Order: sequence, then C-alpha cells, then structure tokens
Amino acid sequence: MLDTDPAKKLSFNRSITNGDLVIVYERHDNMKAVTISEGSVLQNRFGVFKHSDWIGKPFGSKVFSNKGGFVYLLAPTPELWTLVLSHRTQILYIADISFVVMYLEIVPGSVVLESGTGSGSLSTSLARAVAPTGHVYTFDFHEQRAGSARDDFERTGLNNLVTVGVRDIQGAGFPDEFSGHADAVFLDLPQPWVVIPSAAKMLKQDGTFCSFSPCIEQVQRSCETLQTSFTDIRTFEVLLRTYEVREVKMDGVEGNESGSNGSHPCKRRLCSDGSNVVSSSISSVMARPCGEARGHTGYLTFARLKCLS
Ligand SMILES: C[S@@+](CC[C@H](N)C(=O)[O-])C[C@H]1O[C@@H](n2cnc3c(N)ncnc32)[C@H](O)[C@@H]1O
Repeated sequence: MLDTDPAKKLSFNRSITNGDLVIVYERHDNMKAVTISEGSVLQNRFGVFKHSDWIGKPFGSKVFSNKGGFVYLLAPTPELWTLVLSHRTQILYIADISFVVMYLEIVPGSVVLESGTGSGSLSTSLARAVAPTGHVYTFDFHEQRAGSARDDFERTGLNNLVTVGVRDIQGAGFPDEFSGHADAVFLDLPQPWVVIPSAAKMLKQDGTFCSFSPCIEQVQRSCETLQTSFTDIRTFEVLLRTYEVREVKMDGVEGNESGSNGSHPCKRRLCSDGSNVVSSSISSVMARPCGEARGHTGYLTFARLKCLS
C-alpha cells in the first residue's frame, strides 16, 4: 500500500507485514516492486532472500541473502513507483511530474481529469497530491492498458483516489458529467488540440490546463487552439541535470578562485564539460554531470481558463 497521508508517512509508522508492497532497492538504478508473501523468496545476483525474514522489519531495513548479499526494503512512494512500474507506454518522469503537479496547482481536495492514462506514472503522483478528499478521473481508449492501470492502482492502494475510464477522449471528449467540476485537466495525447474545447468545458472558473507533447508542432497547434478559451499560455521544457560528486586525489590543480576549507587552502575550477573541481592540498572533490542524464522528454504547455464575465 502506497501511503498518501504526509502526516503518517508509512516508513515511519509501522513494520512490514505479509501482503505489503515494498520496493527492493539494490541501487538507485536497480529497484523492484515486490508484494510480500510469506513462503516466497526473491532471488537475484546477491543470492536468495526469504520474504518471511522481512516480515516484522521496519521499512528502510537492510536485509541479507543466504550468501551475505544485501538489499534495502523501502516503503513505496509515487517517486519510487515511477521508477519500478511496468512500462506499457512512454511515461512521465519525476522532473516533469513535479513541475506538472506544482504548476497545475493541485492540492488536497482537487478534482483532476487526465487522458491518456498510459502506465499510470503521472496518475500515481496526482492521486497523492489530491488525497485524501480529491479525485483523479483518468481515461484511456486502450481497454487492456486501462485494466492494467486499474490493477496497479489497486496494488498501490490508490483505487479509492483514482478512477480509470475507457474512452476515446480525442473522439468523444471528457464525459459531460464532469462539466464545470474539474480543478485541472492534463493531457498526454497525440492530438491534444482536438480535446481543448472539451477541457475548457470541464474546468471550473480559474481552472488550470496542461498538455504534454514530445514535438513542437503539437505544441504549436495546441497553443493556437488554447487562445480561444484560455489565458496565461506558457510552454516549458524541463531539463534535469544530475551530478556525480566524489572525492579524488588530484595534485597541482590550478584555479583562479581560492577560498578556505577548514585549515586547508582550497581552489575551485569550472571545466569545459561543466564539471567543477575543488582542490585542496589533501584531496579534491569533483562534481561531474552524469552521462546517463535524460535529455528532451517533451514540452509542457500550461494555460488557465479565461474568465468570461
Ligand atoms: C504516452 S501514454 C501516457 C503516459 C502517462 N502520462 C504516464 O505517465 O504513464 C499515452 C496514452 O494515451 C492513450 N491514448 C491515445 N489516444 C487516445 C485517445 N484518443 N483517447 C484516450 N486515450 C488515448 C494511449 O493508449 C496511451 O496509453
């Protein structure tokens, strides 16, 4: 069960029990979602881990295999779920998701309409943001995909916050029953511009809209269509740069800016590849952008419903 109440963060609260969903963490780029089942085992390159050994341990525990290898058992969160979910489609990742949740002004109690659901990566974070009294209604025209998303929301315990509908949103728009009830509408569809009139109809006064599109031509058509009913139309590309920071022994580094690091003289240099080297007479700290950093994912176009009175 993925916890949605910030005041009762699952990992601070209780120990792992049979049936719990845990994130088995090997390293930041190697994690797996596991549902605890007494009598089952997890086998990986570190050996065999018995689920029964995990029951009763606090979340965050380091647990050992029969060969002395170890993993950590983390409490599931939307941030971790996005990294372990099964990819049935392209998904939104943390940098875009966090920007969407903030810029759409989604708060506890919000009603959010989304299409398409895809793998439910964004929906999971939307659900936590609207909890405990809001709701996410998400639609996908692909029946099997919608079904798998429903299964996932049940597994993560979010099914009371997210409802998945099967519907061709580009063909039919959002259902009329939501007219004037949505605080926010989010689209991740191939032709978002055809859905914009329906999105405008669904939104409450001052409601917010966002569309994610990989190509600038899609953005251009969406922006043109948004002019009719929306204001404050803005497009962003969120680029995330991650760094590897480590200590290196490096004698004779030259720099043009010097400072002090405790009792050691300290020099800093910015290299042409964007990395920073801070050196002292004893050791240096190197901060280098990671090669694995994700580049372009898509453009996020935001707008606010025009007030007509
Ligand atoms: C890229 S995925 C969405 C990924 C999602 N944002 C996530 O973070 O997991 C796009 C989804 O839109 C759905 N889709 C495409 N056209 C649609 C339409 N006309 N109506 C409803 N869903 C549609 C596809 O089936 C697909 O699942």
